[in-house]
Amino acid sequence: MNAVPPAGPPALPAPIGLLAELTHRCPLRCPYCSNPLELDRRSAELDTATWRRVLAEAAALGVLHVHLSGGEPTARQDIVEITRACAELGLYSNLITSGVAGALSKLDALYDVGLDHVQLSVQAAEAANAERIGGLKDAQPQKFAFAERVTALGLPLTLNAVIHRGNIAEVPALIDLAVRLGAKRLEVAHTQYYGWAYVNRAALMPAKADVDRSIRTVEEARERLKGQLVIDLVVPDYYAKYPKACAGGWGRRLMNVTPTGKVLPCHAAETIPGLAFWHVQDHSLAEIWTRSPAFEAYRGTAWMKEPCRSCDRREKDWGGCRCQALALAGDPAATDPACSLSPLHGKVQALAVAESALETAPDYQYRTIGGAPRVAMPEGAPV
Ligand code: SF4
Ligand code: FES
Repeated sequence: MNAVPPAGPPALPAPIGLLAELTHRCPLRCPYCSNPLELDRRSAELDTATWRRVLAEAAALGVLHVHLSGGEPTARQDIVEITRACAELGLYSNLITSGVAGALSKLDALYDVGLDHVQLSVQAAEAANAERIGGLKDAQPQKFAFAERVTALGLPLTLNAVIHRGNIAEVPALIDLAVRLGAKRLEVAHTQYYGWAYVNRAALMPAKADVDRSIRTVEEARERLKGQLVIDLVVPDYYAKYPKACAGGWGRRLMNVTPTGKVLPCHAAETIPGLAFWHVQDHSLAEIWTRSPAFEAYRGTAWMKEPCRSCDRREKDWGGCRCQALALAGDPAATDPACSLSPLHGKVQALAVAESALETAPDYQYRTIGGAPRVAMPEGAPV
């Protein structure tokens, strides 16, 4: 009989997606932006050659999708070259854009070098409200012209609408807008409270009744628009029963490269103190994926505490979001307080109810490079 080799640890599956945060520069100033409060400056951004190498390493590692993101990725002079590199490497490229400023002028060139998909942000359906939220006048007509050109080129278009107190009444209008612009997909994404959204939480938190109404609207529209428009719904964590599998589970599906080349397991991971993030200048993506301490820290289930440790959902949602656990519970290894099994869940829901009930929402603290927000953390955090 042949000897059976001892079983080693299961091979680590490759990441599916790479979020390439090409720059933090952006013409919009959305108060719900998930970028960090300390935004990277242009002078510190990776150069074109380094991005080409990173993309080649991603393809070799098994990555399938590259999300060209930011900030506004078309603010980079070399966005066409970077997109061309994706196509040459067989990577599916998704441009995540605001569609304003220079975006339209680069779109045909991006199409010519093989861009696969466009995800366009919309702040609201109604122009004045959209421009108030995004902090940029005359943005809406630019977005519509951009969307028109995307569909004229035959590129698949997804609209992404981040939903909050300031636009939740417009969910039906946003669905109509997606149809009118010829989008194939609409993301109705309730705000996730990281980065600037966390600072602006009291201004953004919608009332539970409005959230429920928005969910019913989406469910009805999904039926009505079957075959025409796919609608993805991201429900708000603070009112949820169970948390989402954030980033598909820590170190399981995604890698996030920041404008300066740090590689993170999720876009907000830098908020967790004590994690060491490896840099693309010092290590290959394969090394970072397989053995960097930050990716190892919360991969799998061994790090979990109760109630996650013995919960039968632990390999479904992977304990929720580490960054939210830190922000709300003060411990990144705690059960995400968005989970109804967390001892803090009741407090989080009460906080959401109290913030959404404020008669007048506080002013937005708009996202800005080099301008520290006036309030670093909302009152009552950690709860
Ligand atoms: Fe998920 Fe943990 Fe909640 Fe179970 S206790 S549902 S694993 S977050
Ligand atoms: Fe970091 Fe959810 S944003 S784990």
